[in-house]
Amino acid sequence: MKLPRRFFQPLAAGAPEPFRELPIKLERMIHFVPPHNEKVRARVPELAKTVDVVLGNLEDAVPADQKEAARNGFVAMAKATDFAASGTGLWTRINALNSPWILDDLFTLVAEVGDRLDVVMVPKVEGPWDIHYIDQLLAQLEARHNVKKPILVHAILETAEGVANVDAIASASPRMHGMSLGPADLAASRGMKTTRVGGGHPDYKVLSDPKGDAERSSAQQDLWHYTIAKMVDACMANGIKAFYGPFGDFSDSAACEVQFRNAFLMGCAGAWTLHPSQVALAKTVFAPDPDEVNFASRIVAAMPDGTGAVMIDGKMQDDATWKQAKVIVDLARLVAD
Ligand code: GLV
Ligand code: MG
Repeated sequence: MKLPRRFFQPLAAGAPEPFRELPIKLERMIHFVPPHNEKVRARVPELAKTVDVVLGNLEDAVPADQKEAARNGFVAMAKATDFAASGTGLWTRINALNSPWILDDLFTLVAEVGDRLDVVMVPKVEGPWDIHYIDQLLAQLEARHNVKKPILVHAILETAEGVANVDAIASASPRMHGMSLGPADLAASRGMKTTRVGGGHPDYKVLSDPKGDAERSSAQQDLWHYTIAKMVDACMANGIKAFYGPFGDFSDSAACEVQFRNAFLMGCAGAWTLHPSQVALAKTVFAPDPDEVNFASRIVAAMPDGTGAVMIDGKMQDDATWKQAKVIVDLARLVAD
């Protein structure tokens, strides 16, 4: 049973009302930085001018004895740069709910920089109960520290249980911003036999059709198609955004580009970038192709009220293709702004 979103409005007096409509923002790349690394932190003010979102990571990849340094580094980083001035999102990835660090993460960040923090990414979300917990905790902390703007929540889909509960997670709270695929943890949780982080796998094959085109039939090796499709449906059905997660092989930009592009075509708004080389890729991939924009603009122009049927270059257009065209035209406008 789905509980109405209203049920999870904050109970704490003085807490801001979480808004239902997401602000329309370009979030082509969520760029991960390790806040405990002073050298990287020093580059953040410049970085903030080139990426859509800067995420200070407190979870995996931060050693246990550096958790406090990462938390404090995030606070320093958030205070040192006016992210809002450049329209750059400031996110964090907190530690998992079953870790000893999550309370300190949220208590410190909301107290110190709650007004600057746009989104909290929650790892290893298994069901709506995890989101409810974070929702109420944020409401209490926002009220206590007089935070004016509700902090949004983004779930990582990276456990088998999470995938089984993906719809309920997407609708768990009006704070939900979106969801990212976490292919590394998800592979482990599912017992998949791979050490790769994201992308295809050479051993995941379909047999070539002996009568078919060898190049086309050998190209199908995407382990993530099912989960991305499921995640996109759950997100779009609930008015939130879907993202591809990390691609770990920095030396293989071609494979990264293909994976990002597949995710984009399937409805994802962006992907994580873990290395500067992936930023430019994400910028190109998560924006519509200019030829596609041209064609889509012709459809929109040919059907001013979005109804009817017309032929363009021999292809039939109607109300449904007008809607498809609008997705592309609207995104192109957002990219151009
Ligand atoms: C990301 O957190 C992943 O596990 O892939
Ligand atoms: Mg993970």
